[in-house]
Amino acid sequence: MSADDPCQLAAGLLASAERVVILTGAGISTESGIPDFRSPGGLWDRYDPSQLTYDRFCASADTRKTYWDIATQSYPVMRDAEPNAAHQAVVEIERAAKLLCLVTQNVDGLHQRAGSSDERTIEIHGSAMRAKCIDCGMEHDRATIHDRILGGDATPACDGCAGRLKPATISFGQAMPEKETAAAFSAAAQCDLMIVIGSSLVVYPAAGVPEMAVRSGAPLVIVNREPTQLDPQATVLVHGAAGESMSRIVTESGIHR
Ligand code: APR
Ligand code: ZN
Repeated sequence: MSADDPCQLAAGLLASAERVVILTGAGISTESGIPDFRSPGGLWDRYDPSQLTYDRFCASADTRKTYWDIATQSYPVMRDAEPNAAHQAVVEIERAAKLLCLVTQNVDGLHQRAGSSDERTIEIHGSAMRAKCIDCGMEHDRATIHDRILGGDATPACDGCAGRLKPATISFGQAMPEKETAAAFSAAAQCDLMIVIGSSLVVYPAAGVPEMAVRSGAPLVIVNREPTQLDPQATVLVHGAAGESMSRIVTESGIHR
């Protein structure tokens, strides 16, 4: 280990931090077998996100059918995936009583399955593990809806009002969850270390969370395979695999004795 090894530098920041905010993106789940969005072969290589906006979903039964087709392919991959070493490292940081809050852009539920607490986990883009009626807000069990679709019901209707069911994720053009978004920015403004893991940081307002932390004077660690537009503001850049990098950072920090 050399003194300027980024994992070691990040470990030093983690060891002295007490109020860590972590932002994760799809890159933390690729080692669990869930494709991300913007890497080669990612979701937006295969589908055009501009055809899957919230307005289109609301307006067109065809779009709802396409949307559910895609969701029905991705849901079993997420449901059957296992958390990986990077999710585990985030749990270790929480168990060391250092985590102020985990803000995830992911909808796969892997953080909670790894052991991250509901109290400190903000799913800022919602969850694919639930379904919700966009007309009355009634929540539905996603596994039940998945079986209904496999049984031939291509655009499932709400049990309560016969309205339009959608995975409980936030689509482009859909209003962000206000309480969760405000909580994420408030935590970022108070943190003493901001760690980004596996995000291209191109989608706002989520990408604004680390920017808020930097503006508030917190050091920024970015663990990502590719460069991001926030790299120039990073205190430490770890251009590597999330699982191996986060495991080394947590181990080197000595936080779980
Ligand atoms: N280790 C480290 N980095 C990785 C790994 C890995 N194993 N796998 C992928 N990455 C990096 C990629 O290089 C990329 O920069 O993770 C980043 C993932 O970026 P995106 O695919 O853009 O995912 P994300 O940043 O979460 O997207 C944000 O966009 O489409 C919307 O709602 C969707 O929440 C999503 C949002
Ligand atoms: Zn309804």
